[in-house]
Amino acid sequence: MKFFLDTAMVDEIKTANDWGILDGVTTNPSLVYKSARPFKEVVKEIASIVNGPVSAEVTTLTAPEMVKQGLELSKIADNIFVKLPTTTEGVKACKALSAKKIPINATLIFSASQALIMAKAGASFVSPFIGRLDDVSEDGMQLIRDIRQIYDNYDIQTEILTASVRHPMHVVEAAKIGSDIATMPFKVMEQLFHHPLTDIGLDKFMADFKKSKA
Ligand code: E4P
Repeated sequence: MKFFLDTAMVDEIKTANDWGILDGVTTNPSLVYKSARPFKEVVKEIASIVNGPVSAEVTTLTAPEMVKQGLELSKIADNIFVKLPTTTEGVKACKALSAKKIPINATLIFSASQALIMAKAGASFVSPFIGRLDDVSEDGMQLIRDIRQIYDNYDIQTEILTASVRHPMHVVEAAKIGSDIATMPFKVMEQLFHHPLTDIGLDKFMADFKKSKA
């Protein structure tokens, strides 16, 4: 499973990159706003740090505008994936940009039918938002299972990018199902490392080592 960070904070991206387990980054307009930096400047810097896909989202609503903006975004760096909303206009833009070999991340996916349509339109990634489904008492993880089954039925190569991840078990469950990628906040990536028994065990080993003869 590939690990992406869902952030526009450059310090977080540099830290995870140093851990050696970072495969890509997803941003969205809200995350860029939180970074308090100009959109293009921050996306360009992120793309220069990460050796993998960096998603940058369009902020237009009609297909012609999305295509125009998508082409501009793709010029920022070679590893930019254009994020398009899953709407009828987004589907049209996905088809047009995919035909120009611009990689697409279809975002705001909340149903299996949306994932099927965006794959047909040529998306490289689909991003089902599982946390936001859980928030409204729906089973986000069931959506990952459904998309996996449908893509496997038809040997669809579009990658499932589990998004709106809130805690480590979301990552583990998505991995068990066979999601290709999980994008997560920095805090969740950090939490993946930790187990209290590791800390207790290490403290004991270090204490015993100090007591033992050289
Ligand atoms: C995905 O690419 C989105 O940026 C993200 O996962 C949304 O997560 P949220 O529901 O925590 O805002």
